[in-house]
Amino acid sequence: MSRSAPRPQGVVTRGTTNPNRLRRVDNWIAVTCRDLLADASDPLVVDLGYGATPITAIELRARLAAAVRPDVRVVGLEIDPARVAAAAPAADPPRLTFARGGFELAGLRPVLVRAFNVLRQYDEAEVAGAWRTMTAGLAPDGVIVEGTCDELGRLASWVLLDASGPRTLTLAARLATLESPAELAERLPKALIHRNVPGEPVHALIRALDDGWRAAAPYATFGPRQRWVRAITALGEAGWPLLDRPSRWRLGELTVAWSAVAPGGPVTARS
Ligand SMILES: C[S@@+](CC[C@H](N)C(=O)[O-])C[C@H]1O[C@@H](n2cnc3c(N)ncnc32)[C@H](O)[C@@H]1O
Repeated sequence: MSRSAPRPQGVVTRGTTNPNRLRRVDNWIAVTCRDLLADASDPLVVDLGYGATPITAIELRARLAAAVRPDVRVVGLEIDPARVAAAAPAADPPRLTFARGGFELAGLRPVLVRAFNVLRQYDEAEVAGAWRTMTAGLAPDGVIVEGTCDELGRLASWVLLDASGPRTLTLAARLATLESPAELAERLPKALIHRNVPGEPVHALIRALDDGWRAAAPYATFGPRQRWVRAITALGEAGWPLLDRPSRWRLGELTVAWSAVAPGGPVTARS
């Protein structure tokens, strides 16, 4: 980090974390952002807000090193100095280091930022500014993956952003324990969690997914994956702009264009 690192932007929030909690988003990053990371002249990744222990930063580094490139570097940034100090023994420089920083990314220029369960504890009105500050700090063509999950990582969602703003929304669930896709509503990213109300596009998406899941109940005989794939297929047939393929659906994922769920956007008659 440069000696003139800017003042960390943000506030200290609860540090709750858990081993393996972010496996779904990490595996998605390893596939979806593979070329970005593989082609980067400096494969620098920031894990922003790693929490009370650095376990998810350690896991991110290990997953990307195994799946994408062994020389990937992860810097865990935390706004809480006590958590930076606590993480120090886990550092493995230059592959994995920890430093104090906030949305300004401590003056680093990463190609990718993963910020999980960080904005959840901020006000909705603060999201756009945090997104802008983070994207301004990226390397050219860099991206942010910002999202939320439950304690064990069974329900998750995230937004992919680049310098032009939000691009996609991904929903992801452990299908073996999923009762209903409506459960995902509680784990939407901060930009959307308060928008799960009638008249908002994300509400229409969750409702359509839930309807599709119920209509696909006969497929449960073949397992929850087949049921989920059928429900997502129905969404596509209804005109939702699906951006991923059945190979991702089988993992319990669904990715749509951000334009289809942006707050205040049009709710088109798709069902
Ligand atoms: C709930 S923990 C999330 C831990 C981990 N990312 C996870 O998902 O398991 C949120 C952490 O983000 C940190 N945090 C909040 N705002 C931040 C900011 N602007 N920059 C860096 N860290 C921040 C908090 O101090 C807290 O430790």
